[in-house]
Amino acid sequence: MVKNNRNSKNLQNTRVKLLGENTASKIAAGEVIESPLSIVKELIENSLDANSSIINISIENGGINKISVIDDGDGIHPNDLELIFQRFATSKINSINDLFQLTTLGFRGEALPSISAVSKINLISKKIDSSGFEIEFFNGKKIKHKVSAISKGTNINVTNLFENIPARLKFLGTSTQESSKIKTLISDYSIIYPNVKFVLISDSVTKISTPGTGDILEAYSSIHGNEITESMLKLELDKMISGVTSNTSIARGNRSNIKFSVNQRIIKNSSLVYAVETAYSGLIEPRRFPFTFINIKIDPKLIDVNVHPAKTEIKFRDEREIFRTILDVVRTTITHQSSIPEINYKKNNSYPENFNKINSNLYDSNIKTPKSFFDKNDDFKNNKELNNNFNLTEEKISLEESKVIGVLDNTFIICTHKSGILIIDQHGAHERINFESILEDLKKKKNIGQSLLEPIIIDINESKFTKLISHRLTFKKFGLDFEELDDTSIIIRSIPSIISTSKDIYGKLIEIIEDIDSKKITDWQYWISAEIACKASVKARTKLTINECEELIKNLSNCKEIHDPHGRPVIMRLPINTIKNQFHRS
Ligand SMILES: Nc1ncnc2c1ncn2[C@@H]1O[C@H](COP(=O)(O)OP(=O)(O)OP(=O)(O)O)[C@@H](O)[C@H]1O
Ligand SMILES: [Mg+2]
Repeated sequence: MVKNNRNSKNLQNTRVKLLGENTASKIAAGEVIESPLSIVKELIENSLDANSSIINISIENGGINKISVIDDGDGIHPNDLELIFQRFATSKINSINDLFQLTTLGFRGEALPSISAVSKINLISKKIDSSGFEIEFFNGKKIKHKVSAISKGTNINVTNLFENIPARLKFLGTSTQESSKIKTLISDYSIIYPNVKFVLISDSVTKISTPGTGDILEAYSSIHGNEITESMLKLELDKMISGVTSNTSIARGNRSNIKFSVNQRIIKNSSLVYAVETAYSGLIEPRRFPFTFINIKIDPKLIDVNVHPAKTEIKFRDEREIFRTILDVVRTTITHQSSIPEINYKKNNSYPENFNKINSNLYDSNIKTPKSFFDKNDDFKNNKELNNNFNLTEEKISLEESKVIGVLDNTFIICTHKSGILIIDQHGAHERINFESILEDLKKKKNIGQSLLEPIIIDINESKFTKLISHRLTFKKFGLDFEELDDTSIIIRSIPSIISTSKDIYGKLIEIIEDIDSKKITDWQYWISAEIACKASVKARTKLTINECEELIKNLSNCKEIHDPHGRPVIMRLPINTIKNQFHRS
């Protein structure tokens, strides 16, 4: 056999040898320092461990050219300055057992030596009761060590990154990508540590400046802006869970805003993200995701932080328990919100534009408000009180107190209410009522099926047939009882009583079966109840009498939630204050 494989040839001639210190330290550093992001992460974690209250971070060219971190923390003792650049030198633990009572972010004693192995790092530090010193390392070698004047705290500058491992430079993202990752990191830390003031300057532009007041919503607002923060609800459970989560009026198309920290350490955990998603299921539209930041405080004995070199993953001793707790606390928080979304004109914070928007939406678009009025009258633009009146109010709505005044497009019921005008989607409202009644009957184990005098036979295609048959028992719980007749048809003997009085029962059953293929169903019980509720509900563009509208609203007021089972809102409110403001009446 011809051995021309390059790897096998190389191996034939190789013997085991110890790597030189220089190579070994570069390889070890690679575990900890992969990019400017990992340097910033390690440096700010050190600043946080040193009880800093202000941390200033400045980067150039996404951190590739320069990273500087300045803190006002405890500082480093002059005698320790050289030692901290040696591997495994740490002030944070003494033995492996300390890992199980860890209160700091660092513990390995690897960050500074790793940074110094791949860059030029200059560190100036001063403890409150000793003099300041400066030390500098370049690619692992000490090049400076002297007394230096500095007030309390630590200043670190990192330059010449990866000059000695050019291959690594090639793997870095663009400057914009690197600085955006750093921005996300600092944003996350500023929410976990709202009592610390973080400032991030990127290429001389201030990207982040948090207040450091200790209030999580203020920190959140400085990162995500007022509009999102106004929809955030605080969540809390004993001393274990704290954080914020968005109400159901706001969502995004990806999961990137669902975040967690454990004992004030940022962690990634897809199962906990799924717990949050599950808590929102049915409350927001499918494939939309909330803004959530949850801080978990847990006995360090119940977790292991030492499972990933970058310390971003941790192991919970009982992950299922944490999953359940998160799911419960998020679900309880969002279902107790004052959840009727308001029609909010605050979107771009600019009064004249908002005015024109409502103007063109509600009235003949030819009748324009004279723009010049607003241009001249700057008081309107700057009147904070006026603009703040667009905010969500906490007032609770009692639907029984509303009065139906008409139905728009045979679809939306319009009501007056002391808090403003309510607009109710007739199909969505009916769906919600039916959905809750189905679930209630199911809980009470009521017989919710209605036997058919004449069974219905339906032909179906193969893929739906298999799915239908495999979930036969779940369908049966909801009163839909069928058997296989042959390979492609079923015989239905009983149907859910809630649709037994519908006009076109056959058509509705066909629609349910058709829908099976159009969606990826994860929770069959939920899906079937939602589907039956939908098919049993009055459709949009069906004429309802005022009495029927009132009956619908009365039943809706007894519902636990006011979203349809697919997560779409059922009610919207145009608050009275918004109306007053739009007419310039306070
Ligand atoms: N900004 C700082 N303020 C005060 N002390 C610091 C600062 N940065 C580093 N130190 C000291 O230097 C030591 C070494 O820091 P280094 O980041 O290398 O390791 P660590 O934080 O102990 O562990 P890890 O490798 O997990 O980060 C720390 O234990 C701490 O005593
Ligand atoms: Mg550290």
